[in-house]
Amino acid sequence: MTDISTAEGSSPLQERRLRTEVPGPRSRELLTRRTAAVAAGVGVTLPVFVAEAGGGVIVDVDGNSLIDFGSGIAVVSVGNSAPRVVAGVREQVGRFTHTCFMVTPYEGYVAVCEALNRLTPGTHDKRSALFNSGSEAVENAVKIARAATRRQAVIAFDHGYHGRTNLTMALTAKSKPYKHSFGPFAPEIYRAPLSYPFREPAPISGAEAAERAISVIDKQVGAENTAALVIEPIQGEGGFIVPAEGFLPRLADYCREAGIVFIADEIQTGFARTGAMFACDHEGVVPDLITTAKGIAGGFPLGAVTGRTELMDAVHVGGLGGTYGGNPVACAAALGAIATIEEEDLVGRARNIGEVMLPALRELQARHRIVGDVRGRGAMIAMELVTPGTREPNPDAAQAIAKACHAQGLVALTAGTYGNVLRFLPPLVMPEHLLKEGLGILEDAFAGFGGAQPQAPSRPIATPA
Ligand SMILES: Cc1ncc(COP(=O)(O)O)c(C=O)c1O
Repeated sequence: MTDISTAEGSSPLQERRLRTEVPGPRSRELLTRRTAAVAAGVGVTLPVFVAEAGGGVIVDVDGNSLIDFGSGIAVVSVGNSAPRVVAGVREQVGRFTHTCFMVTPYEGYVAVCEALNRLTPGTHDKRSALFNSGSEAVENAVKIARAATRRQAVIAFDHGYHGRTNLTMALTAKSKPYKHSFGPFAPEIYRAPLSYPFREPAPISGAEAAERAISVIDKQVGAENTAALVIEPIQGEGGFIVPAEGFLPRLADYCREAGIVFIADEIQTGFARTGAMFACDHEGVVPDLITTAKGIAGGFPLGAVTGRTELMDAVHVGGLGGTYGGNPVACAAALGAIATIEEEDLVGRARNIGEVMLPALRELQARHRIVGDVRGRGAMIAMELVTPGTREPNPDAAQAIAKACHAQGLVALTAGTYGNVLRFLPPLVMPEHLLKEGLGILEDAFAGFGGAQPQAPSRPIATPA
């Protein structure tokens, strides 16, 4: 079990504790202030305001301690305020906070690039560049692919999510809430069909699904016009869709033959989340470029593109960068997070989480006909909810069950093109007793879900002082 409490960073008590209803009075007060001050377009899943967090819990301003099955959307894989992250950041902020790497460089940036070049799939010669977010990483991967190939078209997939900036909105599939009313979108983006085993009209192998996508690219775009294909090896926001085996390797082979840059967007799947350092590793896929962010830096804003040197270096000097990209504090955090992942075997820990969660969720599936599918790898696990006896998406059930979990002190997220997926992303340092308690809350939420019947009111549980 991971030691999550050291002199450098202390973790709150690893327990669920409800002192008030959720959200409590202090959170509700802050919510009123939030509504009066923050733009309405910035949504909120669970309006408890955070006082501290660490290990497997989030403690709110009312003293409630919630089990975290979200990790701030797959970010704090190493836990909040992870000791090595805190130590690195403290040391760095005391020395300098910014110079701009493009003006006067510093070692931390180089060290993060070295770590990325070492850890990402493939033993070929690589280079990396650092940015501030996942979206920015994807934008830059596309820029690099276009500069290297002198082609323009980019292929993205059904259900894909790549961000909210103008180019990445175009790459993202789902209209509401991500694209609706925000057009016009960037041109030369084309969408290909994914392998989505649960929703195929008839069973189809990964290789066959890849041929279906390749046919769209060949017929509707033309390989010779295509700079890049961008794909999440397991889709995140799309609903943790794991493509059929063979889909990704066949696409990667096709890209290699056609001179198309294969970009793996591992912003959500990367850094141990799926029980491998990168999700591409599960099928031995070696992308030409890989985008990373989220789990890379323990909560600090950092994104990266890593890839074949000949592609990365095809861009003219000054063509990549930005004022804050690879900020020294974010780099120190990343080095702390990467050390934590490697030294505490969080890849193995993610696999263990999957071994606990998947059978428990499959058992729920056997008991509840609204569970259409249970899927995922490592600590990236989802349940797709349907109208019983059909594959009709059931977003109302997903919302109701997530809300019931929130009321009982479990942070659970939804996802999916149809909004009908419950997705679970616990921190990889989650103690096993909390993981099991969280699963128990989920089980109760399913038991309490009665279609149109109202949910049981939330009740505080007995708490130690
Ligand atoms: C696969 C994937 N790509 C890109 C992004 C965008 O990252 P960011 O929100 O840091 O811009 C996300 C964020 O959820 C993501 O999951």
